[in-house]
Amino acid sequence: MTRKKKILILNGPNLNLLGRREPEMYGTEGFGQYLERLANLYPDVCLDYYQSNHEGQLIDKIHEVGWDCDGIVLNAGAYTHTSIALHDAIKAVPCRVVEVHISNVMRREPFRHVSMIAPACAGIITGFGLDSYRLALEALLHDAEV
Ligand code: DQA
Repeated sequence: MTRKKKILILNGPNLNLLGRREPEMYGTEGFGQYLERLANLYPDVCLDYYQSNHEGQLIDKIHEVGWDCDGIVLNAGAYTHTSIALHDAIKAVPCRVVEVHISNVMRREPFRHVSMIAPACAGIITGFGLDSYRLALEALLHDAEV
């Protein structure tokens, strides 16, 4: 029997407010509700979830799971644009990380066009609403790498 793949969804600052925060930008669905739908779509995947508003806690989580999970779907929120420490944490672990964004960051303010973490990630998915997480999960499950 093949073992279930273990994937962590890791959300950064302000993403605990999904559903209430700028709904015109991020939608009206809370993440808990979305996660339930996602888990139902992928019964053969062991999906874990963690959210923190604190950079160090996100780094600790990457260290904790980075050697024993099959991939991380990471929405680092605003830390995407600032955090060399997250870049280094992603590089430090063997598991693959996909950067995701709900909004299309390339259509927003110029400061969001810069990603400090992108060079350490396997790829980026941006702009598909909450479906960005599912698309990132698909990428990890298919293990696509060029
Ligand atoms: C975001 C985009 C970031 O620029 C922003 O700081 C967020 C959310 C997104 O999912 O679209 O907090 O990562």
